[in-house]
Amino acid sequence: MTSSDVKVHIATKEDMKAVSALTVEEEWNYPVDYIETLRLLDPEGFFVAKKGDEIVGTGMAINLNDDFAYFAMSLTKKGHRKQGIQRRIFQERFKHAGNRNIGINSIDERRQEVNTEIGFKLISYQVSCVRGLVDRDALPSVGTLQSSNFKILPLSSVSFDSVVNYDANVVTFHRGYFLELWCKSTGCVTFVSVNENGDIVGYVNARPFMGDFAVVPLIADNTEIAESLFLTLIHHLPDDAFVKLHPVVQNLAAVELAKKYNIQGLVYTITCHFNKNIIPVKLDKVFSVSTPEAI
Ligand SMILES: CC(C)(COP(=O)(O)OP(=O)(O)OC[C@H]1O[C@@H](n2cnc3c(N)ncnc32)[C@H](O)[C@@H]1OP(=O)(O)O)[C@@H](O)C(=O)NCCC(=O)NCCS
Repeated sequence: MTSSDVKVHIATKEDMKAVSALTVEEEWNYPVDYIETLRLLDPEGFFVAKKGDEIVGTGMAINLNDDFAYFAMSLTKKGHRKQGIQRRIFQERFKHAGNRNIGINSIDERRQEVNTEIGFKLISYQVSCVRGLVDRDALPSVGTLQSSNFKILPLSSVSFDSVVNYDANVVTFHRGYFLELWCKSTGCVTFVSVNENGDIVGYVNARPFMGDFAVVPLIADNTEIAESLFLTLIHHLPDDAFVKLHPVVQNLAAVELAKKYNIQGLVYTITCHFNKNIIPVKLDKVFSVSTPEAI
């Protein structure tokens, strides 16, 4: 079998429903609005493979800035695999990303082998996706954890640029456009931690995700700030909300924070690769990454 009757196109907003359905078949369960937000990050880099009118594969290249891109959502519909469809989507993605350094994730050993073979030879951190229902009866109140040298505020009370600059200092590249779309999309909630001088020392964003709330990201200067941000968020969410965290496995404080609040159901662990250079993210400040697909 060949993929000669398959055409690879730039995806449209209308395609997102079918792409979401593909993820549901794979038990990734990405809601339409989440995928649409990913598409809006870089509309020219979101591809679908079509056989006639049927979407049989997808994959995206998000050009986050002039130097850095991320590949995500590599998925071919069951029954259409091993026909070269993903290989063709990869070609389009590499074209779109140009000379940028590119990051990609592997969900298992086979993907690690393939990603290494196709050029992503630099292996970096791992991220786990864990899910759980926080035991609210055991929660300390927000005020008891918060020390006097920082406070927690809603996003609307600080300048958005200061959050973008704080984030850029941790992830080591600027992603203002991404954060604007990400934190300000419908249903998202963001809190920011500020020190006595008014400097940002952490922030957390959560978004509804198929009935759960995904913490994407939780970034803070230290564990105390991260925990306070997390508790503020939890007090804000419905009592029966399951929470998903994406701690960097190498950040033991992040892993412990998830355990402490009973977020322990392992959904998957992914390994991050790069093709040109490993982005030197300050992982000790990352308690939950921004998307399972990127940093
Ligand atoms: C992984 C997946 C996307 C491959 O799609 P596909 O259309 O069957 O892949 P192709 O037919 O183009 O390629 C055949 C093989 O060559 C690999 N391949 C793809 N592009 C390649 C390239 N440029 N060079 C070398 N190998 C390549 C593929 O990964 C695949 O490996 P496999 O033995 O693991 O299936 C598909 O199996 C799938 O959707 N799996 C479930 C979702 C998933 O795990 N996605 C990856 C998340 S990290």
